[in-house]
Amino acid sequence: MRIVFKEDSQTFHLYNDQISYIMTVLRDGQMGQLYFGKRIRDREDFSWLLESLPRPMSSCTFEDNKAFSLDHLKQEYPSYGTGDYRMPAVEVLQENGSRISRFVYRGHRILEGKPKLEGLPATYTEDDGEAQTLVLTLEDEVTHLVAELSYTLFAKGAVLARSVRFLNGGGEVLHLTTAMSLCLDLPDHNWDFVQFSGAWARERHLKVRRLEEGIQSVGSRRGHSSHEHNPFVILKRPGADEFQGEAVGLAFVYSGNFLAQAEVGSHGTTRVLMGIHPDSFDWKLEPGETFQTPEAVLAYTDRGLNALSQTFHSLFRKRLARGYWRDRERPILINNWEATYMDFDEEKILGIARKAKECGVELFVLDDGWFGERCCEHAGLGDWTANRDRLPDGIEGLSRRIGEMGMKFGLWFEPEMVNRDSDLFRAHPDWILHVPGRPSAHGRFQYVLDFSRKEVVDCIYGMMEKILSEAEISYIKWDMNRSITECYSPALPADRQGEVFHRYILGVYDLYERLTEKFPHILFESCASGGARFDPGMLYYAPQAWTSDDTDAAERLKIQHGTSYCYPVSSMGSHVSTSPNHQTGRATPLHTRANAAYFGTFGYELDLNTLTEEEQAQVKEQIRFMKAYRRLFQFGTFYRLESPFAGNVTGWMVVSEDRREAVAGWFRMLAGPNQPYTRMRLAGLDPDLVYNVTVRRVTERPFGQFGGDELMYAGLVTSDATSGEVPGGEGLLDFESRLFLLKAEE
Ligand code: DGJ
Repeated sequence: MRIVFKEDSQTFHLYNDQISYIMTVLRDGQMGQLYFGKRIRDREDFSWLLESLPRPMSSCTFEDNKAFSLDHLKQEYPSYGTGDYRMPAVEVLQENGSRISRFVYRGHRILEGKPKLEGLPATYTEDDGEAQTLVLTLEDEVTHLVAELSYTLFAKGAVLARSVRFLNGGGEVLHLTTAMSLCLDLPDHNWDFVQFSGAWARERHLKVRRLEEGIQSVGSRRGHSSHEHNPFVILKRPGADEFQGEAVGLAFVYSGNFLAQAEVGSHGTTRVLMGIHPDSFDWKLEPGETFQTPEAVLAYTDRGLNALSQTFHSLFRKRLARGYWRDRERPILINNWEATYMDFDEEKILGIARKAKECGVELFVLDDGWFGERCCEHAGLGDWTANRDRLPDGIEGLSRRIGEMGMKFGLWFEPEMVNRDSDLFRAHPDWILHVPGRPSAHGRFQYVLDFSRKEVVDCIYGMMEKILSEAEISYIKWDMNRSITECYSPALPADRQGEVFHRYILGVYDLYERLTEKFPHILFESCASGGARFDPGMLYYAPQAWTSDDTDAAERLKIQHGTSYCYPVSSMGSHVSTSPNHQTGRATPLHTRANAAYFGTFGYELDLNTLTEEEQAQVKEQIRFMKAYRRLFQFGTFYRLESPFAGNVTGWMVVSEDRREAVAGWFRMLAGPNQPYTRMRLAGLDPDLVYNVTVRRVTERPFGQFGGDELMYAGLVTSDATSGEVPGGEGLLDFESRLFLLKAEE
């Protein structure tokens, strides 16, 4: 890994053994982008990569030159108003009303390791040798606004982390109205734009469209990253697939409003921008004040999308997630939400917990309904003390009893919200985000606390800290069940209202930081009505997230498949729930529900007492199995083999680091008569090893012995599962699935 600066050609080359990133200082002093992609050999001068021809109608910078036009030059951090008509990375409103700026190169530093981003989640290093960081200092000549562009190059992995820090070095008050974390000008537009979109209960579905001239983008203006679009996109070559081809992935380490955009210009280049959504963003910078953008992570592959995902998985699992649970196998939990909703008392809860313990579950999680006057969605949020009618000895008593059973105890909170019918709201009606004199919209009958105010965050911290200190709590599910409306803070002046969305998220991060610091052994699972805040920012505080409220196994295949493009298996909360499923009404076999949930953190979301004895025995066996295999599932290398977005079959696989062990999952949606022969080609194995393969449905049986080469190149035969002739008629069942367990011969 090296970051080099060539004085003569004014060129920066950042490279490791996989990628190169090259920039240069342009003739006008601004930074130009020359190359991002597969590693190329270093040389003194890469100026041939700076394409610039005279173009009719272009605005030109120099009187003696018709070719130098910002309209079509590839730039590193383009600003508004001096001849580049594409969307800028930065726009600054000045005291005279002008929004025009021009950031020129002033100097740079190269640091070992990676500096922290104050108050924001970000990737990190544990040792300075793991990365180098280039900080480019740019300055707007007129206002003296300084922009420090940071580029961290990791020694391992085809990945770069970027962010920008602004410092108002001049004497006037400025307003940043656009401050993107990353701009990447690519030389052509032969790309597919891949996004992960949907809605509640169908998050992160894979969508692919061809880039065309003009702007294509996804984003959120809801105050959280959203069910609708994920702050992760891929540009892939049209021919690229899971196993071959070129792609660039961009992930935004942030949990609020975002924009991920690709703009194809009229001369065929593509500008990619990623950052805080500029709509309703306006950050005031007094002289001497600074603003730090969140981080964006940029990865590259020329070996297909599985390789790109593995780069993100490895970085996010090891150098974005933090703390005690980062590398630990996650406890198998039971959550009472779908078993009881808010209709429970202590006896009912203990009954569910007892049966779960008998089956081998390790952690009991008490969901919504335990606090204040929380009888229904209309009341209680904000009052984080136990409801004594339901829990006579409080959380302290319940957690002790669960502990005595030999299980850990976890608790649900929704810290950012309040109901009107709550003591907190009665005491502080002005603590919600609202515009005085205007009505406020509700979402699920709740209102959003103004987390841009420190006293609000302090108060919620105080209540949570008390419970966590008094009771025996090992896990927190942190929920967030509505989007923001009336984003206005009466505590801020008029000219700072454009800061509220971002200040709100900073308040959320602050609360997370304080709680994770004070209670380092608590496992946090983030959640937002399922997966509305499943983003890289959250992973920094909570190493796992509730993937979706949709627990239907068939739907989960799509949701977890889409999620896997960016996020590691160890981050995906996935549970077995009852059948027929509460979200879809669909009935699926118990083993298929478990087979889908193993590719995640694994747990149950039902009352096991309601199962037959035979089913309970199956659950015990599932838990035994997961305990034996969870390290492999959660920390192995994950491959997508077959896509639920492409056909009737889904294939997933995890492989151990030494490639001696693997599990492949095969899932078939609908059965059909007299089906064609089918095979599933495995991946990631050692072609020279011989593997003993066992097939697991409800129970396990030997399947055969095969070479790694046979399994990868010829494929595993799955046809017997599609025939109605096999014993038990399994081949004719809808939503059938199997796991293939592979162990290398000694
Ligand atoms: C939404 C979550 O996604 C569910 O799992 C559950 O915790 C409910 N909220 C509780 O209100």
